[in-house]
Amino acid sequence: MPAAAPTWDPAQYLRHAGHRARPFADLLARVPDPPGAPARVADLGCGPGNVTTLLAARWPTARITGYDNSTEMLDMAHVEHEGPTSGGGRLDFSHADVRTWTPGEPHDLIISNATLQWVPGHVERFADWVAGLKPGGTLAFQVPGNFDAPSHRLMRELAASPRWRGRLADTLRHADAVLTPEAYLERLTSLGCAADVWETTYLHLLQGEDPVLDWVKGTGLRPVLTALGDEPEAREAFVAEYRAALREAYPAGPHGTPFPFRRVFAVAGKPG
Ligand SMILES: C[S@@+](CC[C@H](N)C(=O)[O-])C[C@H]1O[C@@H](n2cnc3c(N)ncnc32)[C@H](O)[C@@H]1O
Repeated sequence: MPAAAPTWDPAQYLRHAGHRARPFADLLARVPDPPGAPARVADLGCGPGNVTTLLAARWPTARITGYDNSTEMLDMAHVEHEGPTSGGGRLDFSHADVRTWTPGEPHDLIISNATLQWVPGHVERFADWVAGLKPGGTLAFQVPGNFDAPSHRLMRELAASPRWRGRLADTLRHADAVLTPEAYLERLTSLGCAADVWETTYLHLLQGEDPVLDWVKGTGLRPVLTALGDEPEAREAFVAEYRAALREAYPAGPHGTPFPFRRVFAVAGKPG
Protein backbone atom coordinates (compact mmCIF):
# COMPACT_ATOMS: atom_id res chain seq x y z
CA MET A 1 0.00 0.00 0.00
CA PRO A 2 1.45 3.45 -0.84
CA ALA A 3 2.51 5.51 2.20
CA ALA A 4 0.30 8.33 3.47
CA ALA A 5 1.21 11.86 2.36
CA PRO A 6 3.94 13.32 4.58
CA THR A 7 3.12 15.99 7.13
CA TRP A 8 5.19 19.16 6.76
CA ASP A 9 6.87 21.35 9.34
CA PRO A 10 7.21 24.89 7.90
CA ALA A 11 9.57 26.06 10.67
CA GLN A 12 11.97 23.16 10.01
CA TYR A 13 11.67 23.70 6.25
CA LEU A 14 12.52 27.41 6.58
CA ARG A 15 15.71 26.73 8.59
CA HIS A 16 17.56 26.59 5.24
CA ALA A 17 15.38 29.15 3.46
CA GLY A 18 18.28 31.09 1.94
CA HIS A 19 19.79 28.04 0.21
CA ARG A 20 16.37 26.74 -0.82
CA ALA A 21 15.25 30.05 -2.37
CA ARG A 22 18.30 30.27 -4.65
CA PRO A 23 17.01 27.82 -7.33
CA PHE A 24 13.67 29.64 -7.42
CA ALA A 25 15.49 32.92 -8.11
CA ASP A 26 17.60 31.20 -10.80
CA LEU A 27 14.44 29.75 -12.39
CA LEU A 28 12.65 33.09 -12.27
CA ALA A 29 15.60 34.80 -13.97
CA ARG A 30 14.83 32.75 -17.13
CA VAL A 31 11.06 33.41 -17.11
CA PRO A 32 10.00 36.14 -19.56
CA ASP A 33 7.52 38.83 -18.60
CA PRO A 34 3.94 37.56 -18.93
CA PRO A 35 1.88 38.43 -22.02
CA GLY A 36 -1.09 39.76 -20.01
CA ALA A 37 -1.38 42.74 -17.67
CA PRO A 38 -2.23 42.37 -14.91
CA ALA A 39 -0.79 38.87 -15.11
CA ARG A 40 -2.49 35.75 -13.72
CA VAL A 41 0.05 33.49 -12.01
CA ALA A 42 -0.15 30.13 -10.20
CA ASP A 43 2.58 28.72 -7.92
CA LEU A 44 2.01 24.95 -7.55
CA GLY A 45 3.22 23.53 -4.22
CA CYS A 46 3.91 26.98 -2.76
CA GLY A 47 4.86 25.70 0.71
CA PRO A 48 5.04 28.48 3.33
CA GLY A 49 4.77 31.12 0.60
CA ASN A 50 8.13 32.82 1.11
CA VAL A 51 9.31 32.18 -2.46
CA THR A 52 5.86 33.00 -3.87
CA THR A 53 6.48 36.55 -2.67
CA LEU A 54 9.35 36.78 -5.18
CA LEU A 55 6.70 36.56 -7.92
CA ALA A 56 4.87 39.53 -6.41
CA ALA A 57 8.13 41.45 -6.14
CA ARG A 58 8.81 40.95 -9.87
CA TRP A 59 5.21 41.49 -11.05
CA PRO A 60 3.57 43.77 -8.45
CA THR A 61 0.35 44.18 -10.44
CA ALA A 62 -0.18 40.42 -10.90
CA ARG A 63 -2.91 38.28 -9.39
CA ILE A 64 -0.95 35.40 -7.88
CA THR A 65 -2.26 32.27 -6.18
CA GLY A 66 -0.05 29.78 -4.36
CA TYR A 67 -1.55 26.28 -4.16
CA ASP A 68 -0.55 23.55 -1.71
CA ASN A 69 -2.15 20.51 -0.07
CA SER A 70 -0.43 20.88 3.31
CA THR A 71 -2.52 22.63 5.97
CA GLU A 72 0.62 23.37 7.97
CA MET A 73 2.33 25.10 5.02
CA LEU A 74 -0.82 27.00 3.99
CA ASP A 75 -1.46 28.25 7.53
CA MET A 76 1.95 29.93 7.54
CA ALA A 77 1.50 31.29 3.99
CA HIS A 78 -1.88 32.86 4.87
CA VAL A 79 -0.61 34.53 8.02
CA GLU A 80 2.76 35.71 6.71
CA HIS A 81 2.26 36.59 3.06
CA GLU A 82 -1.39 36.86 1.91
CA GLY A 83 -2.79 40.21 0.84
CA PRO A 84 -2.51 43.13 -1.56
CA THR A 85 0.86 43.64 -3.25
CA SER A 86 2.84 46.83 -3.77
CA GLY A 87 1.60 47.54 -7.32
CA GLY A 88 -2.10 46.92 -6.69
CA GLY A 89 -1.95 43.18 -7.36
CA ARG A 90 -2.81 40.44 -4.90
CA LEU A 91 -1.23 37.34 -3.40
CA ASP A 92 -3.53 34.54 -2.22
CA PHE A 93 -3.06 30.98 -1.07
CA SER A 94 -5.43 28.12 -1.61
CA HIS A 95 -5.70 24.40 -0.92
CA ALA A 96 -5.30 22.24 -4.04
CA ASP A 97 -3.79 18.92 -5.02
CA VAL A 98 -1.29 19.34 -7.85
CA ARG A 99 -2.19 15.83 -9.07
CA THR A 100 -5.58 17.14 -10.18
CA TRP A 101 -5.25 20.96 -10.30
CA THR A 102 -6.14 22.60 -13.61
CA PRO A 103 -6.15 26.33 -14.34
CA GLY A 104 -9.74 27.54 -14.00
CA GLU A 105 -9.01 30.58 -16.20
CA PRO A 106 -6.24 31.40 -18.72
CA HIS A 107 -2.91 31.88 -16.95
CA ASP A 108 0.17 33.88 -17.93
CA LEU A 109 2.53 31.80 -15.79
CA ILE A 110 2.30 28.45 -14.04
CA ILE A 111 5.38 27.89 -11.92
CA SER A 112 6.42 25.20 -9.44
CA ASN A 113 9.53 25.00 -7.28
CA ALA A 114 10.79 21.84 -5.56
CA THR A 115 7.36 20.21 -5.61
CA LEU A 116 6.77 18.03 -8.69
CA GLN A 117 9.09 15.31 -7.32
CA TRP A 118 6.30 14.70 -4.78
CA VAL A 119 3.71 14.31 -7.55
CA PRO A 120 3.90 10.90 -9.28
CA GLY A 121 3.03 11.14 -12.96
CA HIS A 122 3.40 14.94 -12.99
CA VAL A 123 4.44 14.95 -16.65
CA GLU A 124 0.97 13.69 -17.51
CA ARG A 125 -0.39 17.00 -16.13
CA PHE A 126 1.73 19.16 -18.48
CA ALA A 127 -0.76 19.01 -21.38
CA ASP A 128 -3.59 20.43 -19.24
CA TRP A 129 -1.34 23.10 -17.79
CA VAL A 130 -0.03 24.22 -21.18
CA ALA A 131 -3.60 24.23 -22.52
CA GLY A 132 -4.52 26.56 -19.63
CA LEU A 133 -1.82 29.10 -20.54
CA LYS A 134 -2.56 32.20 -22.59
CA PRO A 135 -0.70 32.34 -25.93
CA GLY A 136 2.82 33.49 -25.03
CA GLY A 137 2.41 32.18 -21.47
CA THR A 138 4.99 30.11 -19.59
CA LEU A 139 5.18 26.84 -17.65
CA ALA A 140 8.31 26.84 -15.44
CA PHE A 141 9.51 24.38 -12.82
CA GLN A 142 12.51 23.17 -10.84
CA VAL A 143 12.89 19.70 -9.33
CA PRO A 144 15.75 18.15 -7.35
CA GLY A 145 17.83 15.66 -9.29
CA ASN A 146 19.64 14.24 -6.28
CA PHE A 147 17.85 10.97 -5.59
CA ASP A 148 21.10 9.04 -6.07
CA ALA A 149 23.07 11.35 -3.77
CA PRO A 150 24.27 9.82 -0.47
CA SER A 151 21.66 11.84 1.49
CA HIS A 152 18.84 10.00 -0.28
CA ARG A 153 20.53 6.69 -1.05
CA LEU A 154 21.52 6.16 2.60
CA MET A 155 17.99 7.00 3.73
CA ARG A 156 16.52 4.46 1.29
CA GLU A 157 19.06 1.77 2.18
CA LEU A 158 18.35 2.18 5.88
CA ALA A 159 14.57 2.12 5.31
CA ALA A 160 14.98 -1.11 3.31
CA SER A 161 17.23 -2.79 5.92
CA PRO A 162 15.81 -5.77 7.90
CA ARG A 163 15.23 -3.62 11.00
CA TRP A 164 13.08 -1.03 9.23
CA ARG A 165 11.59 -2.47 6.08
CA GLY A 166 8.48 -3.82 7.83
CA ARG A 167 7.48 -0.28 8.82
CA LEU A 168 9.00 1.76 6.02
CA ALA A 169 8.57 -0.26 2.84
CA ASP A 170 7.28 1.95 0.00
CA THR A 171 7.68 5.08 2.12
CA LEU A 172 10.43 6.83 0.15
CA ARG A 173 10.55 8.13 -3.37
CA HIS A 174 13.16 6.80 -5.76
CA ALA A 175 15.17 8.24 -8.63
CA ASP A 176 12.17 7.85 -10.93
CA ALA A 177 10.38 10.59 -8.95
CA VAL A 178 11.73 12.98 -11.59
CA LEU A 179 12.65 12.66 -15.26
CA THR A 180 15.99 13.36 -16.89
CA PRO A 181 16.48 16.84 -18.36
CA GLU A 182 16.35 15.22 -21.82
CA ALA A 183 12.96 13.60 -21.08
CA TYR A 184 11.49 16.89 -19.81
CA LEU A 185 12.76 18.66 -22.92
CA GLU A 186 11.20 16.02 -25.16
CA ARG A 187 7.87 16.13 -23.32
CA LEU A 188 7.59 19.92 -23.36
CA THR A 189 8.61 20.35 -27.00
CA SER A 190 6.19 17.61 -28.02
CA LEU A 191 3.44 19.83 -26.53
CA GLY A 192 4.47 22.59 -28.95
CA CYS A 193 6.43 24.65 -26.42
CA ALA A 194 9.77 26.36 -26.89
CA ALA A 195 11.61 24.72 -24.00
CA ASP A 196 14.73 25.76 -22.13
CA VAL A 197 15.91 22.90 -19.86
CA TRP A 198 19.12 22.79 -17.82
CA GLU A 199 20.68 21.37 -14.68
CA THR A 200 22.90 22.83 -11.97
CA THR A 201 24.69 21.32 -9.01
CA TYR A 202 24.78 23.76 -6.11
CA LEU A 203 27.51 23.31 -3.57
CA HIS A 204 25.76 24.49 -0.43
CA LEU A 205 28.13 25.15 2.45
CA LEU A 206 26.03 24.30 5.48
CA GLN A 207 26.76 25.36 9.05
CA GLY A 208 26.08 23.78 12.43
CA GLU A 209 26.05 20.22 13.72
CA ASP A 210 24.62 17.52 11.45
CA PRO A 211 23.44 20.12 8.93
CA VAL A 212 22.55 17.62 6.18
CA LEU A 213 20.28 15.78 8.63
CA ASP A 214 18.78 19.13 9.61
CA TRP A 215 18.18 19.92 5.91
CA VAL A 216 16.45 16.63 5.05
CA LYS A 217 14.32 16.77 8.20
CA GLY A 218 12.54 19.62 6.42
CA THR A 219 12.01 17.75 3.13
CA GLY A 220 13.26 14.32 2.02
CA LEU A 221 12.97 12.67 5.44
CA ARG A 222 9.35 13.86 5.97
CA PRO A 223 7.84 10.53 4.79
CA VAL A 224 9.89 8.57 7.36
CA LEU A 225 9.18 11.06 10.16
CA THR A 226 5.48 10.86 9.26
CA ALA A 227 5.40 7.05 9.05
CA LEU A 228 7.06 6.77 12.49
CA GLY A 229 5.14 9.72 13.91
CA ASP A 230 3.32 7.64 16.52
CA GLU A 231 6.48 5.84 17.63
CA PRO A 232 8.91 8.42 19.09
CA GLU A 233 11.47 5.81 20.15
CA ALA A 234 11.56 4.16 16.74
CA ARG A 235 11.78 7.57 15.12
CA GLU A 236 14.75 8.53 17.28
CA ALA A 237 16.44 5.19 16.57
CA PHE A 238 16.07 5.63 12.81
CA VAL A 239 17.36 9.19 12.95
CA ALA A 240 20.37 8.10 15.08
CA GLU A 241 21.38 5.41 12.56
CA TYR A 242 20.87 7.76 9.64
CA ARG A 243 22.77 10.58 11.36
CA ALA A 244 25.81 8.33 11.81
CA ALA A 245 25.79 7.40 8.11
CA LEU A 246 25.43 11.06 7.06
CA ARG A 247 28.37 12.11 9.23
CA GLU A 248 30.60 9.75 7.27
CA ALA A 249 29.19 10.74 3.88
CA TYR A 250 29.32 14.50 4.53
CA PRO A 251 32.27 15.28 6.81
CA ALA A 252 32.46 18.81 8.18
CA GLY A 253 35.30 20.91 6.79
CA PRO A 254 37.02 23.91 8.34
CA HIS A 255 34.45 26.33 6.88
CA GLY A 256 31.30 24.22 7.03
CA THR A 257 29.83 21.06 5.51
CA PRO A 258 29.78 21.02 1.69
CA PHE A 259 26.44 19.62 0.46
CA PRO A 260 26.27 19.11 -3.32
CA PHE A 261 22.71 19.34 -4.61
CA ARG A 262 21.77 18.73 -8.25
CA ARG A 263 18.63 20.39 -9.59
CA VAL A 264 16.82 20.29 -12.93
CA PHE A 265 15.07 23.35 -14.38
CA ALA A 266 12.60 23.83 -17.23
CA VAL A 267 11.03 26.94 -18.75
CA ALA A 268 8.50 26.21 -21.50
CA GLY A 269 6.94 28.96 -23.57
CA LYS A 270 3.58 28.47 -25.29
CA PRO A 271 3.68 29.96 -28.78
CA GLY A 272 2.16 33.46 -28.92
C1 LIG B 1 9.84 21.20 -0.80
S1 LIG B 1 8.35 22.07 -0.57
C2 LIG B 1 8.54 23.43 -1.73
C3 LIG B 1 7.82 24.66 -1.28
C4 LIG B 1 8.08 25.94 -2.12
N1 LIG B 1 7.67 25.75 -3.49
C5 LIG B 1 9.52 26.35 -2.06
O1 LIG B 1 10.17 26.37 -3.09
O2 LIG B 1 10.01 26.67 -0.98
C6 LIG B 1 7.20 21.03 -1.40
C7 LIG B 1 5.76 21.47 -1.24
O3 LIG B 1 4.96 20.69 -2.13
C8 LIG B 1 3.73 20.45 -1.50
N2 LIG B 1 3.08 19.30 -2.17
C9 LIG B 1 3.55 18.04 -2.28
N3 LIG B 1 2.68 17.28 -2.96
C10 LIG B 1 1.64 18.08 -3.30
C11 LIG B 1 0.43 17.88 -4.02
N4 LIG B 1 0.11 16.69 -4.53
N5 LIG B 1 -0.42 18.92 -4.16
C12 LIG B 1 -0.09 20.16 -3.64
N6 LIG B 1 1.05 20.40 -2.95
C13 LIG B 1 1.91 19.38 -2.79
C14 LIG B 1 4.10 20.19 -0.07
O4 LIG B 1 3.02 20.33 0.80
C15 LIG B 1 5.19 21.23 0.15
O5 LIG B 1 4.67 22.44 0.66
